[in-house]
Amino acid sequence: SPQGPTICGMPLKYVSLVTLAVQNAALSIVMHYSRVSTPPHLSYSPAAAVLLGEVLKGSISFVVAVWRAKDTADVSWSSRKTLGGVIHSFFPWSAPFRQVCSEIFSLDCWKLSIPAILYVVQNSLQFVAIGNLPVASFQVAYQMKILTTAAFSVALLRKRLTSTKWLSLFFLAIGVGIVQVQTTATNSSNREIRVGSAHDAAPLHIHIMSPLKGFGAVTAACFTSGLAGVYFEMVLKGSKADLWVRNVQLSLFSLLPALLPILYAPALPHSTGFINDLFRHFGGWAWATVTIQVFGGLVTAVVIKYSDNILKGFATSLSIILSFLASVVLFDFHITPSFVIGASTVLAATAMYNQPPSQEPRIISTGGSS
Ligand code: C5P
Repeated sequence: SPQGPTICGMPLKYVSLVTLAVQNAALSIVMHYSRVSTPPHLSYSPAAAVLLGEVLKGSISFVVAVWRAKDTADVSWSSRKTLGGVIHSFFPWSAPFRQVCSEIFSLDCWKLSIPAILYVVQNSLQFVAIGNLPVASFQVAYQMKILTTAAFSVALLRKRLTSTKWLSLFFLAIGVGIVQVQTTATNSSNREIRVGSAHDAAPLHIHIMSPLKGFGAVTAACFTSGLAGVYFEMVLKGSKADLWVRNVQLSLFSLLPALLPILYAPALPHSTGFINDLFRHFGGWAWATVTIQVFGGLVTAVVIKYSDNILKGFATSLSIILSFLASVVLFDFHITPSFVIGASTVLAATAMYNQPPSQEPRIISTGGSS
């Protein structure tokens, strides 16, 4: 169909965009809670979460890639009376398995090393940001990645943006700025939040947040997000290789940078073995964080394939409303007039950017992103 693949009759493109918005809201809330709900000496290692996420994402992508290759894999050799033929008659999956492995280790796999490193850095920065900012402020500030993504799309993918789209990006930055200034101004010193209740396993404690550190991390994450996303889009759309094979390559290249901080971390007191130490205090909330992050990574890949990075950014700004409402209920977040003004500006900019093509010229793509 001209709309591309569909799910239950709906275009995969839009289903994946909406799913991503919901996933984004859920991730920031669950991740925030997982970081602030326990005192620092009882909290899990973000490095372990990032590593586990990459292993899970890579494994799921590998299974999907093998599954998809089952109809296309070359099985001509399987009927021969060779060792390969015998193996195939016992293990019908050996042909797609072999094909996917040879695609994964193809010559151009090194291209994924760049986004892989950037995403590991980004996923780690996200933990710093979310532990030091209220969820809603994190969400809004993280929208700055739309600006970095647009800039990298223009520079690397040679996308052309109309003046309306540039103007909406400008409003977006202003909206983010308003929220940012008000959050840092009202919390210029470290901010304390009380978490835990009589019902929680963890006793009541005070979690100290440092908004400046949080905004520093979020700003850096916006740059890695823009560059990594656009680079992934460039690799994906610049070759015929399967999305899921690319995902496995991405996860494989992530393993080394994800392992580095773990290998260089100081040994824990009362060590009980490497794996036990790594997953110390890795409770339900940590698992939920990793699960939602893995799911998000997979949906992100689908979105980048069937839409593009700029649209992805605007779709996720919808998640601001969701996580904003949730944090009022869950984290006692106080609505201030400047938060409302800033968040509304972000949403208005989103609407402006996404005006249907009939109201303004289409984005002209001059190669690179076909
Ligand atoms: O916020 P942003 O959209 O830049 O986040 C992208 C997220 O998706 C990162 O956590 C990254 O690890 C993940 N991702 C992935 N596989 C891809 C592309 C992105 O897991 N192919």
